[in-house]
Amino acid sequence: MKVLGIETSCDECAAAVVENGVVLSNVVATQIPFHAKYQGVVPEIASRMHTRWIYGVVDRALKDAGLKPHDVEGLAVTAHPGLLGSLLVGLHFGKAFAWARDIPYIAVDHLLAHLYASRLRRAGAEEEGVYPDYPFLGLLVSGGHSAICRADDFDDITVLGTTIDDAVGEAFDKVAKFYGLGYPGGAAIDRLAQTGDSGAFKFPMPNLYKKGRDGKDHPYDFSYSGLKTAVVNQLEQFRVKKPEIPGGGRRQGEPLRGGAVSPALSGGEAADIAASFQKTAVEILLRGLFRAAADTGITTVVAGGGVAANSYLRSRLAGQGGLRTIFPPPELCGDNGAMVAGIGERYLLRGDRSALSETASARVRAFRRSYP
Ligand code: KG4
Ligand code: ZN
Repeated sequence: MKVLGIETSCDECAAAVVENGVVLSNVVATQIPFHAKYQGVVPEIASRMHTRWIYGVVDRALKDAGLKPHDVEGLAVTAHPGLLGSLLVGLHFGKAFAWARDIPYIAVDHLLAHLYASRLRRAGAEEEGVYPDYPFLGLLVSGGHSAICRADDFDDITVLGTTIDDAVGEAFDKVAKFYGLGYPGGAAIDRLAQTGDSGAFKFPMPNLYKKGRDGKDHPYDFSYSGLKTAVVNQLEQFRVKKPEIPGGGRRQGEPLRGGAVSPALSGGEAADIAASFQKTAVEILLRGLFRAAADTGITTVVAGGGVAANSYLRSRLAGQGGLRTIFPPPELCGDNGAMVAGIGERYLLRGDRSALSETASARVRAFRRSYP
């Protein structure tokens, strides 16, 4: 079934066509340059850009797949979670397309779609890749959400552990913003860390192995606020050590503006900070993941979300004996329409349909939560 997938939950305006799990086209128009000077996604700008771009992005995705609008047999679109105004642009475009062409449509969850990305295959390389069997452990790591989960089917996901504060991508973004390492922060830190010493700074691992307010153990939960504070405080120590270098007129703890690297840092120190932070951020995730693998006996791990592109995470998991780890190709880690079309095809082939009255939601809707 030729399914057009549309994704506009954040700052990527994306559309793709998937058929039988094979990606026929995948167009991602990034708004990064429009948000860079604010060092973060501005929701109002994001939804306006989606409104301007969505038609052209869908048109390109159809042309790249060699299709006309009447060739599309099903439509899938992200409805949650994400920025409400951005979601609404894609959702309404998708509904209008499906209604006008009288084809079935399905509204899908962005996080389920991220976990589905590793099942997709590239056109011309249909035989490549490994297709994870269920159940597997999902490592869902994006800018808005982070979770360790158990996947029993493409739409049957149980969250075993989650962050109690920042998402891991958010921690990368915030640290990069404070140090002025680049925007968006994850990829910038990953690049910079290549030349840094990950042992140069010792940052704390959170200790969360205690009962939650519900009286149950939450052994797979994790946290990034302590790490983020420690790394940001380190910048203050650089500033104290180098008082002759002006801090750019900022108040203490205030982030740098416009992507300037902190004047208190040498290039080597910036790389060491990036590498030390990245290592700790990934180890925080892996501690919960390895614990979940040991407790559940599930040894296949599937990663998804923007942070799944991280090179330290990928190499660290590849070298982990006893686990089979599967990552989507880098172009399917961040937000894209192919993952939406791919999971949408599964729903549509099963006969699932969404109502035209379906609306967008900023919140996560698709997961169950479970504690051991
Ligand atoms: O999945 P995604 O594209 O959007 C959300 O659903 O949030 O994830 C975006 C996040 C951002 O926080 C970005 O900094 C992070 O993924 N990211 C990375 C890397 N590439 C993107 N984090 C670490 N290392 C990377 N190479
Ligand atoms: Zn995402």
